[in-house]
Parts: sequence; structure tokens; C-alpha cells
Amino acid sequence: MQLPPGPKTPPFLQLIQWISHPLDYLEKSAQLYGDCFTVRWGNFEAVLLGSPQAFQELFTVDSNYFASTQGLLLPIVGDQSMIMLDGAPHHRQRHLLTPPFHGERMRAYGQLICNIAEQVMETLTISKPFAVRSAMQEISLRVMLDAVFGINEGQRFQQLKELLTSLLDSVSSPLSSSLLFLRSLQRDLGPWSPWGHFLHQQQQINSLIYAEIQQRREHPDSTRTDVLSLLMSACDEDGQPMTNQELRDELITFLVAGHETTATAMSWALYWIHHLPEVYTQLLDELDTISDISDVSIIAKLPYLSAICSETLRLYPVSMLTMPRIVKSPIKIAEHQFEQGTKLIGCIYLAHHREDIYRQPKQFRPERFLERQFSLYEYLPFGGGNRRCIGMAFALFEMKLVLATIVSRYRLALLDQSPVKPVRRGATLAPPDGMQMVVAGYRYQERLLANRTSQLCELKGVHQ
Ligand code: HEM
Repeated sequence: MQLPPGPKTPPFLQLIQWISHPLDYLEKSAQLYGDCFTVRWGNFEAVLLGSPQAFQELFTVDSNYFASTQGLLLPIVGDQSMIMLDGAPHHRQRHLLTPPFHGERMRAYGQLICNIAEQVMETLTISKPFAVRSAMQEISLRVMLDAVFGINEGQRFQQLKELLTSLLDSVSSPLSSSLLFLRSLQRDLGPWSPWGHFLHQQQQINSLIYAEIQQRREHPDSTRTDVLSLLMSACDEDGQPMTNQELRDELITFLVAGHETTATAMSWALYWIHHLPEVYTQLLDELDTISDISDVSIIAKLPYLSAICSETLRLYPVSMLTMPRIVKSPIKIAEHQFEQGTKLIGCIYLAHHREDIYRQPKQFRPERFLERQFSLYEYLPFGGGNRRCIGMAFALFEMKLVLATIVSRYRLALLDQSPVKPVRRGATLAPPDGMQMVVAGYRYQERLLANRTSQLCELKGVHQ
């Protein structure tokens, strides 16, 4: 079978380049081979697609043409996760799990998201540097634990929070993420070996999740609206409820897919807002037009804030690639004929950096999203088709509320103003661990003081 040409470097070296310098690897390959090329990462071979035409065909063709692949995340999420399912079971899970992350059910989390953002920011000391990603991770993990498990306090909540953070950290650096890429490294050589440590943490997380499931089975509560309760009350066509393993795999999928990604996106947005003074000023002007900053439905619709979120996810899309799709029956995409078994992956990063679509693609310009609308095949930070991210609306909602809460209440500054380059963090593209900020002041106190002063002046004026 003739695949489109691609980098000629030996597969193992390509894998190392892809893990250590993903953007250089993608850009150089696209320069040489255009927007459709074959990559070989160790034993893994796939065709990367980056043109709007290819995305349109990939996302609109009947989904039965493709199967999902037992990808990188399999050891973390398990084989019953929605990500690993296909056909009817996949469709059923999506149908069941869409409501909690959309519409009224999602908006009900608005106040909670703002409160968590405030609680986390209040723990920071003025003028003392803090790691931006850790703070954003704390926020997004607490939000996810509440939405998915409906838990927000107690020992189990605390333990899950710590273990999940540690589990994801253990496969996040370019070196340790090789654990996910190379099956040969996935050997349990005791708790001190990297994979042994990973499995040990995973077992602890599983015990906590199973304990929570057990408790819910023993004390059912029909008023609960979290994802776990929803899944526990669902049955298949034969009236069978989900097994404990199915429940675990879905829960961990949401925690993993929804927490790191949103935290990274919020960290990037904070970076751009504070790196570019004109962006900060314009955002502040917009936020200052709102009389009630706790009105989440107004915040979610602010045009400039929305444009900042869109541009953040365009420039460094947290997920550089879509999930792989395995061809089940021969198909033609972007003028290429692909045979059964070929793995096709959409390259979101390359699509977002096309000069024919985005003027000055390397620049952060939120205005571009106010000037024109991009199609679903030109702008796709959440992928598309039947596998489009199920948490898209929730992630954007959370991003906007957290950014609005932080920027309107705190004056932050980057510790180092020099440009930051993205690094690999697990399967995502993130700012480096070392990116730090400081709380330089409290805008809410400054505003209060300014209001009091003007009231005093008015009073004085009255009495004079
Ligand atoms: C800024 C944050 C996020 C980004 C950039 C992001 C990005 C993505 C991308 C690119 C995909 C693959 C789509 C495809 O292959 O076409 C995906 C799938 C998925 N995402 Fe997200 N995501 C984010 C947040 C979330 C959140 C908050 C949740 C959970 C509430 C979530 C749950 C999922 C799930 C379950 C899938 C698999 C869907 C399926 O296989 O049908 N994601 N996401």
C-alpha cells in the first residue's frame, strides 16, 4: 500500500523528535511534505492531515468507515472508556454523557467555578511567586471532581485530588511521557520503577473510585446530578446497568481528559493576557462594563474574552492532534486513497498555523475572531465529527469564568516577561512548569477604596 511521503528519519529517531520537540518536528515535516504526510514513531505509523478539505472529509464521512485505536491513553483510561469505544456503544455513551456538560446543567456549575477560582487565588500570598499551571490545575481538578463525582470535601476528595495530580505528573515530562509512547517501558519492576510507581498510584485511585461507587450503591440519592450518579442509573437495551469497571473507566476519562487540558488552556490564556499589555487593557475595559461580575451568563457571552479563549486555543492548541481514526474500508481523503488498517490523524496545530487562513499565524491576535468566522474545518481545537470533544462547551465556559474572576479581582504580573516556548506535557502542549506569576495587588480592594473615596468626595461636596 502506497502511503503519502513523510520524514525519512528512522522511526525511533522520529519518535524521539516527536516527543522532545513536537512543534519543530511538525513544522519541518509540513515544509517538506505539505499538509498530508506519513509519520513513523517507533512501531506506530500514521498519516497526518492538515488541510480544511481533509478535515471536512474526515469529520463528515460516515463514522462506520473508522475504528478508534487503542492509543496512548489506554493505560490510564482503560479499555471501557468512551475514547476506546466504537459504533453503537460509543454513540450510546456520548448520548448519555452529553447533558451534564451542556445547557442548564452546565450553567448550574457557574457559581461553583467562580467560587473555586476565588478560593484558590485567595491562598496565594501577595508578591510571592506562584506556578501558574499548578494554580490552574488545582482549580480545574476541583471543578472536575465536583462535576464528575459530586464530591468537594472530605478525605476521599483530598486523596483523589493528590493522587490524580501525582499520576498525571508521573507521565508528563518529555522523558517520562515516553512511558506512554513505548510499550516496552511498560514493565512493572517494583514500586520504585517508573511503570511500577504508575501502576501503584493507579491502584490507589481505583480503590478510591470503587469505594465511592460502593457507597453510592448502598445509599442511592435520586436528587444527585453528577456524572457518576447519571451513569449508575443508566441501563443498556437489555436492562443491564454499567459494571464497576465500566464506571471507573468513564470517570477517569473525564477527570483526565477534562482537567489537564482546561488547566493548560487557562495557563496559556493568563500568559497572553499578561504578556501583551494591549490585550490586558482591552479585556479589563470589557470586564469593567459589567456591573455584576457574578452574573455568569453575561461573562460567558463577552466578545473580547471569548476571542481571547479562541485565540489561545488556536496558537498553541492544547491537543496538537485529533484522536487517530483507523480506516475500516478503503476510502479517499484529500485526494489520497487509503486502505483498510491505515491510521489517519488530523493535525490541529498545522491547521491553525496555515498562512492562507490566518494572517500572521504566529502572533496572538484575538481580534481575528472578531473580524471573521472560521469554519469547523479551519478552526478545530476540540477536533470534530462523531469524536468531537464532549467537554468543549464546559471547557470554554470554565475558561471564561475563571479568567474573568481572576482578572477582574486580582492584579497579576509575569515574573519573567521574556517569551515562553511551549513544551510537551504528556499528550498536550503546555507552558513550561517554571512559568510563574505574582499577585501584585487586589483590584477588588482598590475598587472598593476608589468607590469609598468618591462617595466621601460627594458627601463633602454636599456639605460644603
Ligand atoms: C481546553 C480544554 C480541552 C481541549 C483542548 C480538548 C480537546 C479534545 C480533542 C482535540 C479531542 C479529540 C477529538 C477528535 O479526535 O476529533 C477531545 C476528545 C475528548 N474530550 Fe476533550 N478537550 C478539552 C476539555 C475536555 C473536558 C472538560 C472534558 C470532559 C468534561 C473532555 C472530554 C473529552 C472526551 C471524553 C473526549 C473523547 C470523545 C470521544 O471519543 O467521543 N475534554 N478533546
